[in-house]
Order: sequence, then C-alpha cells, then structure tokens
Amino acid sequence: MKLPYAEPFKIKMVETIKRTLKEDRIKWIKDAQYNLFKLDSDKVFIDLLTDSGTGAMSDKQWAEVMTGDESYAGSRSFTYLKDTVKELLGFEYFLPTHQGRAAENVLFSAVVKEGDVVPGNSHFDTTKGHIEFRKAKAIDCTIDEAFDTTVQHPFKGNVDLVKLENVFKSNSKVNIPFTLITITNNTAGGQPVSLKNIKDVSNLCKKYDIPVFFDIARFAENAYFIKTREEEYKDFSIREIVKEMFLYCETATMSSKKDGLVNIGGFIGLKSEDLFRKASTFNIMFEGFITYGGMSGRDMAALAQGLQEATEFEYLKSRISQVAYLGNKLLEYGVPVQEPFGGHAIFVDAKRFLPNVPQSEYSAQTLGVELYIEGGVRGVEIGTLLADRDPETRENRYPNLELLRLAIPRRTYTQNHMDYIAASLKNVYDRREEITSGLEIEWESPIMRHFTVELKKK
Ligand code: F0G
Repeated sequence: MKLPYAEPFKIKMVETIKRTLKEDRIKWIKDAQYNLFKLDSDKVFIDLLTDSGTGAMSDKQWAEVMTGDESYAGSRSFTYLKDTVKELLGFEYFLPTHQGRAAENVLFSAVVKEGDVVPGNSHFDTTKGHIEFRKAKAIDCTIDEAFDTTVQHPFKGNVDLVKLENVFKSNSKVNIPFTLITITNNTAGGQPVSLKNIKDVSNLCKKYDIPVFFDIARFAENAYFIKTREEEYKDFSIREIVKEMFLYCETATMSSKKDGLVNIGGFIGLKSEDLFRKASTFNIMFEGFITYGGMSGRDMAALAQGLQEATEFEYLKSRISQVAYLGNKLLEYGVPVQEPFGGHAIFVDAKRFLPNVPQSEYSAQTLGVELYIEGGVRGVEIGTLLADRDPETRENRYPNLELLRLAIPRRTYTQNHMDYIAASLKNVYDRREEITSGLEIEWESPIMRHFTVELKKK
C-alpha cells in the first residue's frame, strides 16, 4: 500500500476552542451588526478570518523568543534577522517594521506622491489605501483569467503585460514610481505569479525605466507553486526559486505575519542605499529606530527562524495540501470556488453560490454571515465592502469577483477541522435557494470601511 501523506510535525501545545449554539450565533452576529470583524473570538469555533498572524510557531521559534536581544540599538536579534533576509532574499539593506502596512507606509512616504499611478496585480487593500491616501492611484493589471473562477490557469496572479504597457504609455514616467507585483496575489484568490511573468514584467519595466517592487507577504507559497507548476523549475529547491524571484525586484515590503510564520512583524528589503537612507528617516518617525522598527528583539529572532522554516519544501507541501484538501471537499459538494486553489485560502464564489442575492446587497458578506450562523466558522468578505467606494465619485466599486475567503492559519487546524468547515458550507449550499436577500449599510467609515462597517438585514 502506498503510504498516505502526513504532516511533517507533531503538536506540542494545544488551545481549547468551543462549539456554540446556533440560536446564540444568530443573536451574536446581529449584535455585531453583521460584521464578522466585530465578533469576539470566543464566539467563533473555527476562525478563518485571516491567515495573518494566526499561525502556530515552532519549538525552535519559541526557543528564539527566550534568547532574543532587547537592546534598543544594534540588537543581536536584528543582525540575525537582517542576515537571514540577505541570505534568503538577497537584500543588502533592511528595515524592520511592526507589520506589512507599516512597511508600506514607510516606503510609500519616500516614493509615492500626489498624482502618481502605481500599476500592479490587484494591490492588497492596505496597499491600495496607502497609495490612495497619498492622492495617487493603484491600477490593477491582473490577467483577465483571474476574474473568472471557473477558468483553469496555473498562474492566475500574473500581470497582464499589455495592460501594464498601456499604463506606461498613457502616463508620464515621473508619475510612475514603481510597478508592484504582489506574490501571491491575495485579492484574486491567493493566486501565484510565474517566474516567467516576473521576468517579463521586469524586462518591460526596464524598457520604460520603472523599478519593480514586490509585496512578498506569501513569497514562499508562490515559490512552491513555481516549483510544482512551472516545468522549468521543477528540479530547483524552494530557496533557489526564491533567490531567482528576488533577482527581479528592487525593493520589497513584507507582512511577516504570513510567510514569516510569526504573529506580528514586517519589513522592507532594499537594494538601493539611497532609498534605504530616505526610508530610514520615515522608519524612525513612524516605527522606531532602524534596528527594531516596532518589533521586539525576541520577535525579530523568531521571525528569522520562521523565514527558514517557511522556505522548506516539506512545510510548504503540508500547508498547501491542507488548503487543497478543503478545496477538493467543497468541489465534491458542488460548492463554487476559485480554481485552481490558491496558497493560503479557499475563495468561495458568492455570485455563483447565491445567485438570488444581488452584488449590491453584499452577497459575499451575506454568505459569510450564513456560514457563521451554520457552523460558527468565520471567513472574510473579499468583495464589494472591501473594494470600498471610488475616492472621487463615492460610488460603490463593484469588483469582478465577489468572494468569501476561507483563510487557513498555518500549522493550526487539522483535517477534521477541514471536514467540519466543508460540511458547514455544504449545509448552507443546500438551502441557498431560500436565501433571497442580503444586507445594507447603516454606517461606514470613509476609507477601509469593511473593518468597522455596520450592516442590517435587507
Ligand atoms: N500585502 C498583502 C498581500 C496582504 O495580504 C496583507 C495583509 C498586507 C500586505 C498587509 O500586511 O496585515 O501585516 O499590515 N493581509 C491580511 C489578510 C490582513 O488577511 O490577508 P499587514
């Protein structure tokens, strides 16, 4: 008999989670104004709100926590992290920040100005927020295949070169500070970008003399997809692929809460000394001195260890296989999901799941509420609420994809949890015809509304 696959770790510490009653959940979600961010975590059984900072650290990472150096300047843990980033990603210069959006804030303060445009492949919401906050524009140049959840394409995160070149042709070079490649492309479904596409973007950007920046929150998961889906790289190790990917970027922002395998942290990796100097000033103003940038020494040390673990093939295989296990279960039940599956989450297609609920009634959010009521499982809307309003017209922006994301925390849940999640969603799917109306907004903030929005049933 062929031996089945099993996780390359065993569990040393457990945390109790509690099942709750459906009638309580109906009340709790109403009290939370149908906003899943407003639920207390003890009212959630399986929490798939995000894979950001919610994973389990290893024994070796916890050992680093005990020996971290808390010196304000020149901490040993800082040097350890800086050296690790240089060794794995090739960046000569390095600035720690407290999380990914802080890295964006620091870096964009140095390079983005009013009137600029920043093309890329579906900028993450905080990234777009930091661009728009500076009265600049984020332009999505993701390939069209990404916007149809039924189309099979191995690299749905790719940048469309024609769309990108159009941005270059229709804007002055002085207004394009950089092109941003987000790996993996979270918004389109945790979809990877191929090395070929990275190289093509880099060549096009060279032609127009525009730097390439990366948003590398899930760079290791991206490397796994390159190894398993891009023929040319199948015999490369993950670390060799990572090295190759980073040859094509000048500067990167990282949310360490994802592929850093830690609960908090971020950084900026840079190759230009000049930009490093400029960004350092903002780092000191917003984050802290340049050898800690909002992180404790122990957190930096645990991150250095986490980056080593995240770039191991066996770890990535278990991680991405677990996400695919959930995806395949849902397909078995007929639930429409983004295919092929991405790296960190399964994205349920709310337009196909709830055809009776119009997008203007926030169908993905409605589905998220129904899933919570059904099984105490919390996902997150990646749809119209997240897309926010157009900063000029203030009209709702209706994205092509209206998705409920089920993000899987790293090394946290078991296969039984995946079965439970799939069964909960199947039960909602079985009664989908009865769900004929969605939600409406009672209050929203002017930017990043999805975190605090207050909703009621339509
Ligand atoms: N870039 C990407 C691609 C992200 O997914 C995130 C965060 C950030 C930047 C910002 O990083 O949270 O450390 O400030 N994504 C989380 C998520 C919140 O749930 O997908 P951060």
